Amino acid sequence: MKAVRVHRTGGPEVLQLDDVPTPSPRLGEVLIRVEAAGVNFIDIYQRSGAYKIASPFVPGQEAAGTIAALGAGVTGWSVGDRVGCYAGGLGAYAECAIAPVDRIVRLPDGVTTAQAAAVLLQGMTAHYLTATTYPLRPGDTCVVHAAAGGVGLLLCQLAKRRGARVIGTVSTAEKEALARTAGADEVIRYTETDFAAEVKRLTDGAGVQVVYDSVGKTTFSAGLGVLAPRGMMVLFGQSSGAVEPFDPQVLNARGSLFLTRPTLAHYVAARTELEQRSGDLFGWLRDGSLRVHIDRRFPLADAAEAHRMLASRGTTGKVLLEP
Ligand SMILES: NC(=O)c1ccc[n+]([C@@H]2O[C@H](COP(=O)([O-])OP(=O)(O)OC[C@H]3O[C@@H](n4cnc5c(N)ncnc54)[C@H](OP(=O)(O)O)[C@@H]3O)[C@@H](O)[C@H]2O)c1
Repeated sequence: MKAVRVHRTGGPEVLQLDDVPTPSPRLGEVLIRVEAAGVNFIDIYQRSGAYKIASPFVPGQEAAGTIAALGAGVTGWSVGDRVGCYAGGLGAYAECAIAPVDRIVRLPDGVTTAQAAAVLLQGMTAHYLTATTYPLRPGDTCVVHAAAGGVGLLLCQLAKRRGARVIGTVSTAEKEALARTAGADEVIRYTETDFAAEVKRLTDGAGVQVVYDSVGKTTFSAGLGVLAPRGMMVLFGQSSGAVEPFDPQVLNARGSLFLTRPTLAHYVAARTELEQRSGDLFGWLRDGSLRVHIDRRFPLADAAEAHRMLASRGTTGKVLLEP
């Protein structure tokens, strides 16, 4: 089969399309014939070496397709079943991928494999951020940075769904329009405007209950300044670079703030949580109340270009690889 492999970490050019043996599922595993694989920022961190992972490896933590083979001990699933999967070490940038059976979810009719690969990782992230990390309530105001990104567009929709007021930040007019379509009440071009001053103005100086920050280095410090007393900074990514070392005393001085640095894996570790979050998303896709914006689809051979586009702020919504 064809698989994209990283033999040594580095720039996008290290993503190399190789012929490799099709793996066989072992105890408790299934082989998925991949129809769509999600491209996510974490793939960039792993490919570049920012997050350490042993080489060679096949990147990709998110895929959807059909079951091609069952390993020993797998019951309740059949070859041909349509499934989606989010799992660390999945090796999704390939024609086939091995998944632990307890990490796959069944795709209902009405949800395509492209939609599933586009919504599982980023959608379950938006789900846990808005429903569990800081459970938004009507009357809350939140800031969503990179509001037209893959997570961002889903986060805007799920935050609105919970009744919150959403202030999004984006870099371009095109992204502003997309964020508004996703439900953002206010959108700030943070590359042109001091977003902290603007958030303060938009909230009449009161500040917001929560900041969902996936941008990191360039937004974190100013974001602390827009929180209302006892507000929560949810730092869940670092698309602009890592946040500098931080003195917890700042949380006191800024108003008894909370700071968390969550990761999806810890919010879907239990099978029940995985099923609940993915089930909610699939249900909302089916009834039309959630839209997933697939911006670009690339063949496996163009994985490097997909990484270049995502890393350079050239994408909106989701980027997929289609073997
Ligand atoms: N912790 C978790 O559970 C979890 C799960 C999923 C994703 N994440 C994180 O969430 C973030 C978003 O992931 P995604 O896959 O949906 O990507 P994305 O948001 O579609 O792409 C990143 C966006 O960040 C913004 N950005 C600001 N400064 C940037 C810079 N210097 N370089 C590149 N981008 C910059 C850009 O939007 P503008 O042009 O509008 O500024 C860009 O489009 C990533 O940091 C990812 O690691 C975390």
